[in-house]
Amino acid sequence: MSTQNKLRVAVIGCGMFATSQYLPNISREADAETVAAVDIDFGRAETAARRFGIPNAYHDVYELVQKCDFDVAIDAASIQAHDEINRAVLSAGKHLISQKPAAPDVERLNEQIRLAEENHVKFACAPIHPMRYDLNFAKRLIADGAIGRAYYLKCNMSHGGPEYFQYRDADPSWFYEPGAGALVDMGVHGLQIVTSLFGPASSVACTAIISTPRREIRSGAYNGRYIDSDKLPDQYLITLKFPNERMALVDSGFSQKASRAPQLEIFGDRGTIAFTKPYMTNPKPDVYIDSGELGFRGWVTPDEWVDPPRRLTSQCCILRDLADAIAADTTPLLSAYHARHVLEIMCKIPDAIQTGREQRLETVF
Ligand SMILES: NC(=O)c1ccc[n+]([C@@H]2O[C@H](COP(=O)([O-])OP(=O)(O)OC[C@H]3O[C@@H](n4cnc5c(N)ncnc54)[C@H](O)[C@@H]3O)[C@@H](O)[C@H]2O)c1
Repeated sequence: MSTQNKLRVAVIGCGMFATSQYLPNISREADAETVAAVDIDFGRAETAARRFGIPNAYHDVYELVQKCDFDVAIDAASIQAHDEINRAVLSAGKHLISQKPAAPDVERLNEQIRLAEENHVKFACAPIHPMRYDLNFAKRLIADGAIGRAYYLKCNMSHGGPEYFQYRDADPSWFYEPGAGALVDMGVHGLQIVTSLFGPASSVACTAIISTPRREIRSGAYNGRYIDSDKLPDQYLITLKFPNERMALVDSGFSQKASRAPQLEIFGDRGTIAFTKPYMTNPKPDVYIDSGELGFRGWVTPDEWVDPPRRLTSQCCILRDLADAIAADTTPLLSAYHARHVLEIMCKIPDAIQTGREQRLETVF
């Protein structure tokens, strides 16, 4: 910590997500200041440092840990770089926030978890869905029996691809290279959401296709260029089974330019909860209740609740989770153990596709 007890944060990877979500919000989400910007494309680190008034810019994580006094690193680099960056940060005894997925396989995430435990540092993993206002409200409704026994989750988590959906001035072609892809960039959101609600899954099955083997970049500095996108599927239908006759469908990919499907629906034997609005607006889900006792069936839109949980204000809320865990010496809500379960699911999906058979899951959180 600095003399003023502010958390000193270093951001590694100064691309679209870091500059739009993390860097503008670090001091809003926690008692924290940004002390370093890091990017292997050093010009990007320098530009971010100038734009956000950050005192230091570095070429890579090794220069950062050698030269800079910091408390927390946020790894917002390209997916393929996460494992090396995370191990360097944790080995240096610094708290870590990792963008998803933190590692390419469960063994390497176990190694990161071991480093965090050995060095007594906190480790939080994106995405941020377990912090969501609407999901936590739904969890409470389910626990209180509002929709009876909840048994099926249907989650639609797709967009038209990072070269289409998001404005970017860094080359987006890495999203279509091995190690990245629609499953670990988008599917991860759906898998984290359904496991947040139902807990660890017991098995996974999957069907996938490559919908679009060549893509035109449609925004930003690379507008009009083409990407070969034929190495990995870009549309997945993932089914998960959970203990006690429960299941989930996650429909995910870079293959849906637009959709009017609810992002999530939760079905129970006495009702449904539907999430139809963007979650960063902290919406209330719609609830359908079938009550024989009350003589009522129909949709209701819940009013403001009496004791609202803290709302999300940016994707940088993960820093708030980590800062709370540091202060209270607890495990972050966005825990590496949950991330490990989601990673196991993603790592078993290629076998599920190839064999056409359900794959058993072993990790829990
Ligand atoms: N809603 C979400 O949760 C969400 C949305 C978009 C992106 N993301 C995630 O954020 C991360 C970054 O995505 P982006 O869209 O900003 O990509 P981007 O291509 O815009 O930025 C990535 C940056 O990382 C840098 N980089 C690559 N390897 C590095 C290394 N070894 N050390 C330091 N810097 C390195 C690149 O030069 C680039 O500036 C990814 O993990 C992505 O999955 C999350």
